[in-house]
Amino acid sequence: MRKPIIAGNWKMNLLQREAVALVDGLKPLVAAVDTVDIVVCPTYTALSATGKALEGANIQMGAQNVYVKASGAYTGEISPDMLKDTGCEWAIIGHSERRHILGETDALLNEKLHFALANGLKVMFCIGELLEERQGGQMNDVLTTQVTEGLKGISAAQLDNVVLAYEPVWAIGTGEVATPEQAEEVHVFVRALVKDLFGAAAAEAMRIQYGGSVKAENAGELISKPNVDGFLVGGAALKADSFAGIINAAK
Ligand code: PGA
Repeated sequence: MRKPIIAGNWKMNLLQREAVALVDGLKPLVAAVDTVDIVVCPTYTALSATGKALEGANIQMGAQNVYVKASGAYTGEISPDMLKDTGCEWAIIGHSERRHILGETDALLNEKLHFALANGLKVMFCIGELLEERQGGQMNDVLTTQVTEGLKGISAAQLDNVVLAYEPVWAIGTGEVATPEQAEEVHVFVRALVKDLFGAAAAEAMRIQYGGSVKAENAGELISKPNVDGFLVGGAALKADSFAGIINAAK
C-alpha cells in the first residue's frame, strides 16, 4: 500500500511572514492527518522561517531546487546541506519551469538527483509533456526519455527516497486539469517504465504524484485512481483552506 504524498510547490511566492502565516493556518487544519505525507516547498528565502514554524508539526518541508556541489564558487546556488540546515527533508528536481524557463537538461537533473540523494535529501522528481508533444504523438517518447535519463545510475534501494511527479505542462497553472483517466493512463505507463528499469517491487512501491491545476474539487476523483499516489500542487497550495481541502479529499 503506497502512502499518498501531497506537496505544495509555492513557486516564487510569499514573503517570510506570509509563508509563516500560511503554515500557521494549515497546521490545525491537517493536525489529525496521519495517512498522507504532507510537504510544503517554500522559496529559498522563506525556508528558515517556515522550518521553524513547522517544528513539531506533521508537515515536512522541501526546497524547489538544489545544486550539485557541496560548497564553493557557485554564485547563487544552494547545496543539500544548506537545505537540510533549514529543516528541509525534500527537494523538487526537474519542475517543468526549471526545464523550460531555466533550461535545465535531463543530464543536469540526473546529476542533481544523484547529489541530492547522496546527501540525504528525498526527491520529488518531475516529468511531463508539452501540449504539442501530446498532440504530436510524442508523449510516451518524451516521458520515457525523462524517466530513463533522469533516473540513470540510481539504484533500486535509492529509489525508496524518490517520488515521481507527473505534471503535464499544459495543465500547470492553466485551470485545465488532466482527467482522472488521462492521469491514470500516464501513471500506469510511467510505472511500467520504472518496472522495466528497476523491477517489479520498485515499480509497485514507487509513489507517482499528479500535478497540474489540482484543487479540492478535483482531488478526490483523481486520487481515487489506483496509480495516482498524491499531488504536487501549485496555486491551490498558497491558501491554507484550499491546500487542506486537497489533503482532506485524499485521506
Ligand atoms: P498548479 O501548479 O497546481 O498551479 O497547476 C502545479 C505545479 O507546477 O507544481
